[in-house]
Amino acid sequence: MKQFLSVHDINDINVLVKKALEYKHDPFKDKTLGIDKRIGLLFLNPSLRTRLSTQVAARNLGMESIVFNVDKEGWALEFEEGAIMSGNTVEHVKDAAPVLGSYFDIVCIRTFPSLKNREDDYSELYISQFVKYCGVPVISLESATLHPLQSLTDIITIQEYLNSNPPPRIVKPKIVLTWAPHVKALPQCVANSFAQWINAWGEAEFIITHPEDYELAEEFTKGAIITHNQDEALKDADFVYVKNWSTYYDYGKIYENNPQWMLTEEKLNLTNNAKVMHCLPVRRNIELSDEVLDSANSIVTQQAANRVWAAQAVIAEILNSQL
Ligand code: CP
Repeated sequence: MKQFLSVHDINDINVLVKKALEYKHDPFKDKTLGIDKRIGLLFLNPSLRTRLSTQVAARNLGMESIVFNVDKEGWALEFEEGAIMSGNTVEHVKDAAPVLGSYFDIVCIRTFPSLKNREDDYSELYISQFVKYCGVPVISLESATLHPLQSLTDIITIQEYLNSNPPPRIVKPKIVLTWAPHVKALPQCVANSFAQWINAWGEAEFIITHPEDYELAEEFTKGAIITHNQDEALKDADFVYVKNWSTYYDYGKIYENNPQWMLTEEKLNLTNNAKVMHCLPVRRNIELSDEVLDSANSIVTQQAANRVWAAQAVIAEILNSQL
């Protein structure tokens, strides 16, 4: 693997999931693979899980990790080619990225969308400029439109549950991605990425449900059943993935925040005793009720814990390709 920006960078999802679950079983089995190597974690936005799980994963492989909060500690970066830098940006990515590439064997970066201009955000300018100029493999820690480490984790968590589930075994799980209310306009990246990975995985019946006008980009959702009827979608679901996103077409807006879309115990009763997933952080009693989050159906902590094994599998793939 030369980079990890989306599902298109891997050959076989099931092989990577298996590798991640092997690391969960035996975290230090490749503890010298990354010895004398360094991984740089660059953040243009806050993080709890992505930052710490990637550091733990690197440590398990014997790598040193260094975190750089670019937004708070670094020079303001310019990403536009040919920019006349007379404004607030101090350093062009064309100059900064090769320096970072000289310090690290792998560069990981988290960017975020502006939610102001869809074309700019969906062009993935920030992360693609790092890929272009840093000269070493790049791992996305979440970009403007996708969150591949999260999505790999999500499939690991689903597969882990399917492996351990007592008979009768679920052969083709029904997975529902449901929109939930939120107080802020959030990116579409987790939902885009989940849809992209579940569609590519191809081993589930996949339904997306959201209010009217919250359509996601078809390039990611193609293959899923899409409905505005949440109750109908939830019927007999085995997994329910709860996530808010802002509007895609009239970009970055909150059109409505109907609390009826919050996942409650009553709605969960429509499902096949579904496992409930969320990438976290979650707004309690806005997106999901306390009773659901604190119930045995919720696997959000297990899901977040699995971030380590996803990151470890991806870093190991890249290190192995450098041997
Ligand atoms: N799910 C996720 O990416 O969490 P953080 O924003 O805390 O890294």
